[in-house]
Amino acid sequence: MAYSITVNGRTREVDATPDTPLLWVLRDELGLTGTKYGCGISQCGACTVEIDGTAQRSCSLPIVSVQGSEITTIEGQSDRVAQAVQDAWTAIDVPQCGYCQSGQVVSATNLLRANPAPSDADIDKAMSGNICRCATYTRIRQAIQDAAGKLEG
Ligand code: FES
Ligand code: FES
Repeated sequence: MAYSITVNGRTREVDATPDTPLLWVLRDELGLTGTKYGCGISQCGACTVEIDGTAQRSCSLPIVSVQGSEITTIEGQSDRVAQAVQDAWTAIDVPQCGYCQSGQVVSATNLLRANPAPSDADIDKAMSGNICRCATYTRIRQAIQDAAGKLEG
């Protein structure tokens, strides 16, 4: 079946069954492989994208449920907030294996858009759905605080 979705500002026609998870449409149909598969059951956050301004797990959303929504993947994160987050990630050298990191960056960027001056508790709450098997949590928190500081200045 054909579905029309808007990804990174561009309307795309995709052919899929209604229950196909958005993650697989992004990766297999559209070639946007920055969004990763981790658990497939909304537990790890590797597949996080923004949908209508909210960070959500694309592995558990059937394509039929996101028709007409604005979807932003890691590839489309390029505004001022996203750039500050990515600069902080690079400066602090956050990733280890890197597998979880696109989901982490999408969640962090989404947090700073909603809350430009988060406390450590705000960060821990917003990032709690993003698991990192390499345990980069301390650097993630520091990078978010640094990005917030740069955006404020
Ligand atoms: S792959 Fe979606 S939450 Fe783990
Ligand atoms: S950097 Fe390896 S899983 Fe997070």
